[in-house]
Amino acid sequence: MSLDRGETSGNVTAVLQNRSLRRALIAFTAFRPTESAQWIAILVYAYGRGGSREVGLVAIGMLLPTAALAPFLAQIGDRVNRERALACAYLAIGVAAGLTALAAALSLPAIAFYAFATLATITISMVRPTHLSALPELAETPAQLTAANALSSTIEALAIFVGPLLAGLLIAVNGPGAVFGASSLLMLAVGFLALAIHARTRITERKDPVGDALEGFRELRRRPGARLLLGFVAGQTMVIGALDVLTVVLAYSVLAMGPSGPGVLSAAVGVGGLLGAAATVTLIGRERLAPAFFAGVAVIGVPIALIAFANGPAAAVVLLGIAGIGKSFFEVTARTLLQRSVDDDVLARVFGVQEGLSMAALAVGSVVAPILVNRLGVEPAFMLVGLILPLIALLVFQRIRAVDRDAALADPRSVALLRGTSIFGPLGPAGLERVARNLIPLEVAEGAVVIKEGDAGDRFYLIEEGKVVVSKAGAVLKVLGPGDFFGEIALLRDIPRTATVKAEEPSSLLALDRQHFLAAVTGSPAGAVALATEMDRRLSEHDV
Ligand code: CMP
Repeated sequence: MSLDRGETSGNVTAVLQNRSLRRALIAFTAFRPTESAQWIAILVYAYGRGGSREVGLVAIGMLLPTAALAPFLAQIGDRVNRERALACAYLAIGVAAGLTALAAALSLPAIAFYAFATLATITISMVRPTHLSALPELAETPAQLTAANALSSTIEALAIFVGPLLAGLLIAVNGPGAVFGASSLLMLAVGFLALAIHARTRITERKDPVGDALEGFRELRRRPGARLLLGFVAGQTMVIGALDVLTVVLAYSVLAMGPSGPGVLSAAVGVGGLLGAAATVTLIGRERLAPAFFAGVAVIGVPIALIAFANGPAAAVVLLGIAGIGKSFFEVTARTLLQRSVDDDVLARVFGVQEGLSMAALAVGSVVAPILVNRLGVEPAFMLVGLILPLIALLVFQRIRAVDRDAALADPRSVALLRGTSIFGPLGPAGLERVARNLIPLEVAEGAVVIKEGDAGDRFYLIEEGKVVVSKAGAVLKVLGPGDFFGEIALLRDIPRTATVKAEEPSSLLALDRQHFLAAVTGSPAGAVALATEMDRRLSEHDV
């Protein structure tokens, strides 16, 4: 199936014709870079006042209350209208950021700046969960939801370097207060825009966060290998937390880069991260991931350690960019290994445990970094932060290899088949494996009816071998063969089956149930567009 550009963008445009969805996405696009920018502004402000020690204290003072309150605040959206909660969160950020900017402009005591900035940080933590849980209520079709989710992740990826660059620019012009001033205006505007968002439906999910988390911990108790991997992920997050602080110190006191320095250095990590994400395609279909895991750990750590010897901003930017590449490479291998080592039905909970752990690890990293700088000096601090995980990885080399050996592999043939399709091809390695593990192989006899027109839809099908005939009201629409798919329309549109699909010869099919299918398409922006385009084309043939 080939896609021409006009058709593709036409599809996204159609999806964005939903007004509320469009507003929610515009608001998120404005919000996401300000989130990163405000954090850098806070670190720069703290560094300007009390050096790395104050940076550490401020980081922990803000991250801890945010981490403690985040799970509760996230549930506000389950109690009141989600779109209302979202608008209120944006407005609250606008007000809090405005007060922070005012505190900076009027040179109020630092405690006022920090108090308002903490308020901003706490309200910021409400946005992402509320935005993501509001989308299903705004979308008119699952296809729209899929595209909205996909666009949200694209926005996230871009913000990782756009945010720090904007922060650098604004700080250079008028100090950290300028970042808050600009964020305030933008978030107030976005808040008013969001007030005009109206949900189409109400979806109330039954959630039991405490029970879910406990189940995640129980699964981990049974799986020492998964514990080891999570330990590494937490360690890596700690390194990133430390790096946030160290880059501020580096930009100012070592490289004398001026006020935009920290933003530029953080942006380098972000750009590297995008390149690293592209490089993860080399992981697809790999049976053993231990070598890639080690490579990831080393490619993050070694450049960080080498920064101790960087003689100028350019070298630091390059080294941090390489560390960024390592970071996304590591994240994908760790995620893939983790999903290979725990049961699929508790995977979400294990990832939940990982989220909580990461927040804490980030805080610990930001506290430890200034202590290291004060005790050891800047260069040794970089060396230690960079080398600690590669060294630990060497020590537990055999255990990681064992985790890798015991991990349940997805069938490589299924992965290869999925990769060749336009819908699943764009999924990353972890996504492809996840889908492959959930595929249900089916052998159907010649003449068997796989899908009956008018029935309710429950599964999506891929043809591995054989041939099927699609017909509507007795008239043949199409013959599909190996690599083709069917059964997507009922699932994506939430309607009865639009046609009958019958095996014309003995065929091998791979089925994916509704929930896994929707989750998989949601994870793949390009795939979602390819799917929506093909679906529209097929439906257009129904009228003739
Ligand atoms: P669904 O409606 O869920 O179930 C019947 C399937 O037949 C449908 O999804 C499509 O996957 C497939 N189908 C319907 N129309 C066409 C067509 N014109 N060409 C190819 N496949 C089709």
